[in-house]
Amino acid sequence: MQADARELMEIIDLWNYSQETQAQIQALLEAEQPPPPHLFRYYGASPGKVAQAEQLWAETLGCKYALAVNSGTSALMSALAANGVGPGMEVLVPGYTFFASASVVVASRAIPVICEINDSLNLDPEDMEKKITPRTRAVIVVHMRGLCADMDPILEVARRHHLAVIEDVAQAAGGTYHGKALGTFGDCGCFSFDFYKITQCGEGGFVTTDDEFLYNRAQSWHDTAACWRPDRFAQERFAGELFCGENYRLSELQGAMALVQMRKLDAYLTALRRNKKLLRDNLALPAGLTLRRQPDPEGDTAIALIMFAPSAEGARVLSEALQAEGVSAGGQFDQTVRDWHCYTHWEHVLQQKSVSPEGCPWSCPFYEGPLPQYSPDMCPRTLDYLSRSVHLGISEHWTEAECLALAEKINRVAASVL
Ligand SMILES: Cc1ncc(COP(=O)(O)O)c(C=O)c1O
Repeated sequence: MQADARELMEIIDLWNYSQETQAQIQALLEAEQPPPPHLFRYYGASPGKVAQAEQLWAETLGCKYALAVNSGTSALMSALAANGVGPGMEVLVPGYTFFASASVVVASRAIPVICEINDSLNLDPEDMEKKITPRTRAVIVVHMRGLCADMDPILEVARRHHLAVIEDVAQAAGGTYHGKALGTFGDCGCFSFDFYKITQCGEGGFVTTDDEFLYNRAQSWHDTAACWRPDRFAQERFAGELFCGENYRLSELQGAMALVQMRKLDAYLTALRRNKKLLRDNLALPAGLTLRRQPDPEGDTAIALIMFAPSAEGARVLSEALQAEGVSAGGQFDQTVRDWHCYTHWEHVLQQKSVSPEGCPWSCPFYEGPLPQYSPDMCPRTLDYLSRSVHLGISEHWTEAECLALAEKINRVAASVL
């Protein structure tokens, strides 16, 4: 606790602009003392909190570069910009993900192509391949609810069609696939550190990559693309270095929070995995009720347990029966309830809405269409899986006895209603 507080106090307490403090800072710097506090990630002594968080995140995942940004959405935008995604291009996205994974494509002036998910509740590699056209530039692979997508077949299809792979790891930080961290398979990995994520700092995110060129471009995009380079006033060092970007910088306060949370990741995942294993090992589900397929069970972050009922009605009945017993289980799809995680609610895309009167990107002269045929029933298998699923969040706080009691309750309720 003390160490956690110190990360923040170092920044908050000591920061001010008085000349006296400036002189003290200068003296500290000259004496090569620990870095003085600075609320802005650049221009202070280095490494500041954000830079330390970047280094720790890259080390944690085992990749070369991690760039801190101010949200997961910013991470996705930066990754798309780094990969040169823009007008005339299509980007594949799964029909089940938080809307940000699709909205960033439109905000980048490209066309999102919505793909089916499979029984892992993540992108279906077969449908992904079917939706590739000569205009497809990239695929955003989302690892939903803590669990990896089928990375081997997805990467194989992507490589064969020369697509950039952007992993959206917003909901699966710390997860792995065949022992390798999620977010290190694609050209870029994108993480959210918003308040509801596995690792959090209020608002924040990271872009990860092993590619120096992509790192430079993502870094440029996140800082108005003219600002942070070894020499910020130097001429363009390589083709594609300078372009007009935005400001997605993370503040030192959030950097300090991120650093603290990253250090807790292992302990958090260990507790989640222990509890989910206890639950799974003690489930005796009736015929017809199955568990979400895990492409790599070892790599599951274990934030959720998801079951498939034989029908949407079965899922509804089971959810309600569990809730009546005090279990906070819930369905994943109901067209009558507004939810930004299923494509049927993405009317911004389905109705081709635009921020500008010209209708960009849907009317873009660089886009040599035809546009995808968007409709609420365009991904029937996605709707089938989501409507039959019953979701249960796992808590790291549950005791062994609570896990066993919960398993017994699920077994009993499921046997009585299915
Ligand atoms: C899968 C997914 N992608 C992207 C995001 C966007 O992250 P942020 O809220 O940090 O912008 C989220 C956030 O909920 C998410 O769940």
